[in-house]
Amino acid sequence: MTEINLAVLPGDGVGPEVTRAALDVLSVVTERKGYRVFWEQWPIGWAAMVDGGEPLPEETLKACLAVDAVLLGAVGDPRADGLPPSERPVAGLLQLRRHLGCFANLRPVRVSDGLARYSAVKPEQARQTDLMIVRELAGGLYYGEPRGLDEEVGRSWNTLSYERKEIHRIATIAFDLARDRRGKVTSIDKANVLEVSRLWRIVVEEVAREYADVELEHMLVDRAAMEIILCPENFDTVLTDNLFGDILSDGAAALLGSLGLQASASIGGCTDLYEPVHGSAPDIAGSGIANPAGAILSVAMMLEYTFGLRAEARAIERALDRVYVTGCRTSDLESSEDVTAPMGTREFAELVIDQLETELQATS
Ligand code: IPM
Ligand code: MN
Repeated sequence: MTEINLAVLPGDGVGPEVTRAALDVLSVVTERKGYRVFWEQWPIGWAAMVDGGEPLPEETLKACLAVDAVLLGAVGDPRADGLPPSERPVAGLLQLRRHLGCFANLRPVRVSDGLARYSAVKPEQARQTDLMIVRELAGGLYYGEPRGLDEEVGRSWNTLSYERKEIHRIATIAFDLARDRRGKVTSIDKANVLEVSRLWRIVVEEVAREYADVELEHMLVDRAAMEIILCPENFDTVLTDNLFGDILSDGAAALLGSLGLQASASIGGCTDLYEPVHGSAPDIAGSGIANPAGAILSVAMMLEYTFGLRAEARAIERALDRVYVTGCRTSDLESSEDVTAPMGTREFAELVIDQLETELQATS
């Protein structure tokens, strides 16, 4: 019997609520496949710091290194706002990504039929939106040394640096994905200002030569920020560095209508890491209204990328869309066509599960 071993890191704020819903969806699939799932929960972020611990406790890291995949909820808590970045809950997540070595962060942005009405762009355009942001996750400005802040002198500094091999490996992932998609890579940089972006272009072009069937386009990040929203249909695979990818993916969430819908997979390291793109949303934590779709879709990505269960991943996506088509949604989504009141996390997840059962029956 196939065994799946997971580490679940619910983290802070709405993290526990959305991971719970996502695990319920996962178990529908695994039960049907006859897989045995073992998962243990570990603290990260503020949840690990409340008792005086580190944002990434050693036992959590050890557990993550020993499993097939990690499912993370969210990290962050306003009680840590006064702390320096290196001591905040998010430092736990940044250390985890780094230790696992997952350098490729995949953030799909696809507007399904049921979601088109919530999009910031026109429904016709929204329906043509299907892009994959490939964000470099293990380097760049997030991790560059030296870094520091001298408050007395009034000086602060961070370092942006990328080596050829770091650019090569992330570009290769993007081109491989593009080949399976619509065959286009848009590489985003700031080559009119930054030396790092110039090496980025050189290496991306080298990789492109090995993919004659994939079209490559370069775009400056400022222009891309606008184009992705104005003409999302022109983008397929979007390749970019750590910081630009962070910013552009939140921007692209406007195409979906809510950040709560975005999922992510971080791959290429020793353990794959899956997490919704949204944060811990402390303002609504514990009230049972968070959108679990980002976490649910992250589980779909886990099934696809770590366990090779593509059909099951598609079934989850279809189930979710069937729920949206009926107008059911959580309160983060709003449209003038809404006729019913928004629902809570659990209630919404139950509907997805019902649809998923139907979907899985139809595919078996
Ligand atoms: C994200 C988040 C993180 C990032 C934070 C929480 C460190 O914004 O996953 O996009 O900046 O990478
Ligand atoms: Mn972000």
